[in-house]
Amino acid sequence: MDKVIIFDTTLRDGEQAAGGTLNVQEKLEIARALEKLGVDFIEAGFPASSPGDFEAVSLISKEIKNSGVCALTHANFNAIDRAWEAVKEAAHPRIHIFLSASDIHLVHQLKKTRDEILKMACDAVARGKQYTGDIEFSPMDASRTEPQYLYQILEGVIEAGATTVNIPDTVGYAIPGEFGGLIEGIRQNVKNISKAVISVHCHNDLGLAVANSLEAVRRGARQVECTVNGIGERAGNASLEEIVMAVKTRSDFFNLTTGIDTTQIYRTSRMVSDLTGFMVQPNKAIVGANAFSHESGIHQDGVIKMPITYEIIDPKTVGVPSSSLVLGKLSGRHAFKQRLAELGYTLSEENLNRAFTAFKELADKKKHITDRDIESLVAEEQRTVSQAYHLDRVQVTCGDQGLPMAGVRLIGPGGKTVIEGAALGTGPVDAVYKAINLCVKVPNSLTEFSVKSVTEGIDALGEVLIRIESGGVSYTGRGADTDIIVSSAKAYINALNRLITAREK
Ligand code: KIV
Ligand code: ZN
Repeated sequence: MDKVIIFDTTLRDGEQAAGGTLNVQEKLEIARALEKLGVDFIEAGFPASSPGDFEAVSLISKEIKNSGVCALTHANFNAIDRAWEAVKEAAHPRIHIFLSASDIHLVHQLKKTRDEILKMACDAVARGKQYTGDIEFSPMDASRTEPQYLYQILEGVIEAGATTVNIPDTVGYAIPGEFGGLIEGIRQNVKNISKAVISVHCHNDLGLAVANSLEAVRRGARQVECTVNGIGERAGNASLEEIVMAVKTRSDFFNLTTGIDTTQIYRTSRMVSDLTGFMVQPNKAIVGANAFSHESGIHQDGVIKMPITYEIIDPKTVGVPSSSLVLGKLSGRHAFKQRLAELGYTLSEENLNRAFTAFKELADKKKHITDRDIESLVAEEQRTVSQAYHLDRVQVTCGDQGLPMAGVRLIGPGGKTVIEGAALGTGPVDAVYKAINLCVKVPNSLTEFSVKSVTEGIDALGEVLIRIESGGVSYTGRGADTDIIVSSAKAYINALNRLITAREK
């Protein structure tokens, strides 16, 4: 069977999702999970866009051996040089150059002619080619580009050395039959197309990203760009797990395969959700909490008799744990470390010690510790390790009589300063946030607040997810604790730290 190359862009386009910024450590952790998942390429970032992205791409390039590592760049020589600088130590480095191709972008945004763009594209590819043989080129907004001009650009960049040509549906405008037709048109009209792999990169503005990608594959594309949980700019990108499982489950139809170890899908999805702070909707295909729950009596009866009656995928195939009861109060450091390794986490000694302390504290409050609890704890530790401000104490008084009051104590940057604040609020969370504001003094507004329990049971960890906005940019924050006021405080400090780090960069 022919293979479809899985090009994961969770760390680049996925991170472009509003409020989805990840720190370098979090990116590295996700990159390790993606390598384990078996993706062919990890698009690790856009090095010219920020020093943080440059650092993340460099670190990932040095560590990842079994997946290719790709750096995105616009068609500018300095940016291409910077992309190479970041990715050059990868075992399989790739440079991905993009440049708008549609008249809409050329006229209204770039103010350049088609001839100028064609030359820029070819020159950029030739520049990248001086560094590596593996060059991908994307004519941005390809699905709204006049096909004859698109063919001309593709022919030009392949001639200049591009080995993968990616066809982005940048604004999620395409319809499956039409997008598949475009791929077929490219195969028939671009003379040197046999020298390059055709890739597709679909956005989900009309909810068609996966359908468009699959139709493109059916019509000859052999690389799909996608993200875990479908996260990405605006409505997101094609979801990796849906693409992979469609190709696998319907191999009778596609007659294709991927290199993905599907048993890693569930845990990778959990990790991406925990670290980005983007919850997975319960009805999400493949990885949603309800994806394998059968509610109706008739369905339950059928599944008990023979799972195939109502289940097209065995949950084990995607790594959904059958029983997640794992550790308790008496479990030692070794068992904890081993379970972490099974869940795919490789923590430094320092982080492991912190996570183990948090595990022991939780085990004192909660009888049974599940995988979800462990994932939540680790995400919590990883999120807080490099933060400027840490929550040291929080105390609230509240009830139906009188005004809720909160006092907080924070440890400031470098662990040197202790800052305290107290405030009244309309509710306990409001009071805590006002007290934190007195300490941190960074203007922002809270735009989203949600709380959910990590597992069942009255002693469950409560996970708070918030979004704050400042200067038109939104930042997510996440906190977990058995006390939801403490989770709320942690989530707020986490979001503020992200805001502060982004400003510093
Ligand atoms: O959506 C898009 O066009 C992109 C390109 C950079 C490939 O993300
Ligand atoms: Zn995109």
